[in-house]
Amino acid sequence: MSFVYMKILESRPERYDIGMGLLTLGSLTKIKRQIADHVHPGDRVLDLGCGTGTLAQMCIERGAQVTGVDANSGMLAVAKRNSPSANFLNISLSNLDEHLEDESFDIILSTLAFSELTRAERLHVLKQIKRTLKKGGKVLIGDEIIPENLLAKFFYYAFRLPMRLLTWIVTQNTTNAISNFDDDVRQAGMEIVNCQPFMLGMFILLEIKK
Ligand SMILES: C[S@@+](CC[C@H](N)C(=O)[O-])C[C@H]1O[C@@H](n2cnc3c(N)ncnc32)[C@H](O)[C@@H]1O
Repeated sequence: MSFVYMKILESRPERYDIGMGLLTLGSLTKIKRQIADHVHPGDRVLDLGCGTGTLAQMCIERGAQVTGVDANSGMLAVAKRNSPSANFLNISLSNLDEHLEDESFDIILSTLAFSELTRAERLHVLKQIKRTLKKGGKVLIGDEIIPENLLAKFFYYAFRLPMRLLTWIVTQNTTNAISNFDDDVRQAGMEIVNCQPFMLGMFILLEIKK
């Protein structure tokens, strides 16, 4: 995936969904549909780094009550239009402890947001997930990883470093494909119970329980 375009798309929220659909060749939408299939009527759902609210809306259409969290007010303005009945919090994922109650969500989900966090932030958010997830609840995380498939790994490394540099020059920001995530999940006191690869293993959908 092109990290530069992803960051540029985030700065143009109106075009974000069309751009991401093209960049991920439809994989992101597939991952979101699969996540939404886990949702049942009446579930309380938390979407971390909800962006333009497309996944929030899929969950609402399945009868859930959704809270979306994002630090980018431009993305949230689009999210409020895409999903008018969701509740959105314009806060950083580093401040979840101040805003969310213990054991208050049946399902906590996130797509392409963990890869924008540092490892320390990821661990902090995973601990907050454990705190706010109800007993028997489910966590679903779709994100990009460093692939294991050799061909995919070659493309990944051939483009990754120059793209990271270019991303930083254009946006003064970068992304960190997730690695050692299973260690982080364990450290937060949870376990990965299923891992499904997409696009030669460049994206994964994880199901996590506490
Ligand atoms: C690549 S977008 C993904 C958006 C959406 N989940 C999707 O899959 O279409 C990443 C989102 O995470 C949000 N984000 C990144 N770091 C964040 C942080 N520390 N606190 C809150 N939101 C954050 C960004 O503002 C952005 O909307």
